[in-house]
Amino acid sequence: MKISFVEPALPKSGTLVVGVAEDRVLTPAAAQLDSDHDGIVQRAIAASRFTGKRDQTLAILAPAALGFTRILLLGIGKPAELETTHLEGFGGAVVAALNTMGESEAAVDVAGFGPLGVTPAQAAAAVGFGASLRSYRFDKYRTKEKPEQKATLKRLAILTAAIAPARKAYGTLEKIAQGVVATRDVVSEPANVIYPESFAAKVEELRELGVEVEILDEKKMKKLGFGALLGVGQGSVRPPRLAVMKWSGSKNKDSAPVALVGKGITFDTGGISLKPGPGMEDMKWDMAGAGAVFGAMKAIAGRKAKANVVGVLALAENMPDGNAQRPGDIVTSLSGQTIEVLNTDAEGRLVLADALWYTQERFKPRLMVDLATLTGAVIVALGSEYAAVFSNSDELAERLQAAGKAVGENLWRLPLGDSYDREIDCDAADMKNISSGREAGSTIGAVFLQRFVNSVPWAHLDIAGTAWSKKDKSTVPKGATGYGVRLLDRLIAQYYED
Ligand code: BES
Ligand code: MN
Ligand code: ZN
Repeated sequence: MKISFVEPALPKSGTLVVGVAEDRVLTPAAAQLDSDHDGIVQRAIAASRFTGKRDQTLAILAPAALGFTRILLLGIGKPAELETTHLEGFGGAVVAALNTMGESEAAVDVAGFGPLGVTPAQAAAAVGFGASLRSYRFDKYRTKEKPEQKATLKRLAILTAAIAPARKAYGTLEKIAQGVVATRDVVSEPANVIYPESFAAKVEELRELGVEVEILDEKKMKKLGFGALLGVGQGSVRPPRLAVMKWSGSKNKDSAPVALVGKGITFDTGGISLKPGPGMEDMKWDMAGAGAVFGAMKAIAGRKAKANVVGVLALAENMPDGNAQRPGDIVTSLSGQTIEVLNTDAEGRLVLADALWYTQERFKPRLMVDLATLTGAVIVALGSEYAAVFSNSDELAERLQAAGKAVGENLWRLPLGDSYDREIDCDAADMKNISSGREAGSTIGAVFLQRFVNSVPWAHLDIAGTAWSKKDKSTVPKGATGYGVRLLDRLIAQYYED
């Protein structure tokens, strides 16, 4: 879908979208249509249940004299309470409504979408951004879609008096959207297409944006001592990889980077501790943490962020076969600490243990954030509205939560602590990879990871509930959400750029 920013004027074809505030208060564009055309807007509202609540829509056939097809009223709620994420939601709601109607082109007049803490240009750009995010589809494997099943909307014009600054603001948002799309694409791909080597090849494409990329293969990791990560990958015919991305956008190229680390299990069968069959197909998205880090690096490099950022992806496939690791195996991690692998399905923490240690030792980052679809328990606790954040730094946790709130990717903080940590003490090795019960499963995963983090500020985001959506949401169509990309991009933009 193509998005443009143009001077306010009545369109010649397609749909004109105008806003109506709560309690049927017309925005200037809606009031103009109403007075020029015999009360068409007010009469349509009176004949319906439309009141102007946020994201409500009501379609009206345009009078023949107008030349275009229809008017779409969009509820914008209480203007004084609008936030940027609401404006993005309007873009999303418009795209959803127009695709349902089979419309191919439309213009949205954003006059009156405020007042906000942002400029009219930023507001216009936000509507376009939301529209772009909602228009995502992963349909490359649908070769037999009927025309009525396809998305119809091809062009969306945002009508605004502030064209030049709106285009400029959108230019940055477009780079972020491209990062989100990159994440949704790799997460949506099945595991026969995206596996450690093919994912690494995708990462190498970021070189075009000026990202330095380095891929560690099995041989290299064996030599360095990645025993925990290699143990997870050894049951698969697809060998593991560690992908390292480096963006040096700060004036001081040598200043300590922000480090982002992602769990990239390209398929998680559970290994010898095999998962049950029903629903196992979902485990193709067990690389969504790595996907988010990949997309965030794309966004950050795309918009040329003035920050030093490294991204590290721990890529492996967790399969059961003759060479797979067994429950009870003891592996030596890169840190030198030994781990008794009591459950081969608790594999994300194993690959992250080595990736976190490597990142911390090699890059001496100012902070580390890891993202992982680590535990089913976090879905039980928080569902799909919030991801969990665990951190050894109140400041970092608060910054992540603030960034998440600003972009609509919410985080809820859960605890770490010594009493949890004791649960993974082990008789046979330095630690075991699961506790003995089912209590506090997400925290147990987090305290395990913490054993591979020294004093650097670190946060672990458990995104098992937010990486994939079963239903359409305002700017996020069902499927891979791209959760984390906007959050990480905002964290860096807000706190860690020159
Ligand atoms: N990838 C799973 C977690 C998961 C489950 C993500 C469902 C998304 C949806 C992870 O590797 C896993 O299997 N975790 C186990 C840990 C347990 C063995 C301690 C879990 O949550 O059951
Ligand atoms: Mn698992
Ligand atoms: Zn997993």
